[in-house]
Amino acid sequence: MDFLELAKARYSVRKFSDREVEPEKLEKMLEAGNAAPTGKNNQPHRIYVLRSADAMKKLNELSPCVFGAPCAFIFTYNTDEEWKNPLEAGIHSGVEDVSIVATHVMLEAQELGIGTCWCNYFANSELEKAFGLPENERAVLFMPFGYPDEESQPSERHGLMKPIEETVRYI
Ligand SMILES: Cc1cc2nc3c(=O)[nH]c(=O)nc-3n(C[C@H](O)[C@H](O)[C@H](O)COP(=O)(O)O)c2cc1C
Repeated sequence: MDFLELAKARYSVRKFSDREVEPEKLEKMLEAGNAAPTGKNNQPHRIYVLRSADAMKKLNELSPCVFGAPCAFIFTYNTDEEWKNPLEAGIHSGVEDVSIVATHVMLEAQELGIGTCWCNYFANSELEKAFGLPENERAVLFMPFGYPDEESQPSERHGLMKPIEETVRYI
């Protein structure tokens, strides 16, 4: 499958099976994240891998978007390490850095047959507190992952893309 086919085949999985994800697949997903570019290569991101029943219970209490997944990642960034734009006060790269790392992980998962869902429906400060994150770390998203349930289907929103002419301007 070429990259465009892979990108189009990915969809947000919202029904997972409890089949265990092989450690070597998990490692490949993390390696793909590790290969992502970040602002000035500062790599301010942190990835928490939630695998224990306790951790998943805690996540389920924070959001309805875990969807029965056996595991999840939480993606955060360190506010001291993110690149800060010297030309524009207040513009920092942490959220961008985390986003590209998470995208690498998500697409590698797709390549490996592992389903994911990007989730930001949670109270960030509550999650940071519940998982005891350091004071200088901000949570951006969590991502349940695992093998899709055999009944898993894309939502009706999947693939409803605006025409490219609406979102791209040539100037
Ligand atoms: C920034 C962002 C936040 C999202 N947050 C959630 C979420 O909290 N819960 C959820 O079920 N899906 C969430 N999604 C998934 C989107 O709803 C989904 O990607 C979109 O509807 C397109 O569907 P598809 O991923 O199946 O192609 C999020 C996606 C992105 C990129």
